[in-house]
Amino acid sequence: MVPFPQNLPEERFYPELHKLVRALLTGERDLQANAANLVAVLYHLLPKINWAGVYWLRRSDLVLGPFQGKPACTRIALNSGVCGLAARERRSIRVDDVLLFPGHIACDPDSRSELVIPLLAGDTLLGVVDLDSPEAGRFQPADQAGLEAAAALLLELSEPRL
Ligand code: SME
Repeated sequence: MVPFPQNLPEERFYPELHKLVRALLTGERDLQANAANLVAVLYHLLPKINWAGVYWLRRSDLVLGPFQGKPACTRIALNSGVCGLAARERRSIRVDDVLLFPGHIACDPDSRSELVIPLLAGDTLLGVVDLDSPEAGRFQPADQAGLEAAAALLLELSEPRL
């Protein structure tokens, strides 16, 4: 993997992550391949993460795509879970404590907080990026902004087709 600087001050973390993601994805336009590398980078570089992956929209379900972490639910109906809500509302959903989120789907019982980011190519919803943490309140507004920008890089650098 492209080297990543250690012990970065907080404000440098996402800019450096974006540089790395751009370098890693540039040169390949396949969305599935780039999504696989994106979630691998997020899983390995973000502290306190136990799952990172993509669910692709297939008709009215979200279907498991590339991921890192324990095996997960393969299919999520659009009317369920945090992923379904992010897909329906086409906006990022941050859940500080999944135990307090009605309808949360517990794929990994270790997960305590979650961030789901929709992948939108123009008006077309392609799927969502889902990140889970074993720590409540792990994802802050700065993480949401930094990870939305990482998801935008995936779409910028890939063909929006599977
Ligand atoms: N917790 C998600 C399901 C996917 S797993 O976290 C990998 C949800 O409620 O939609």
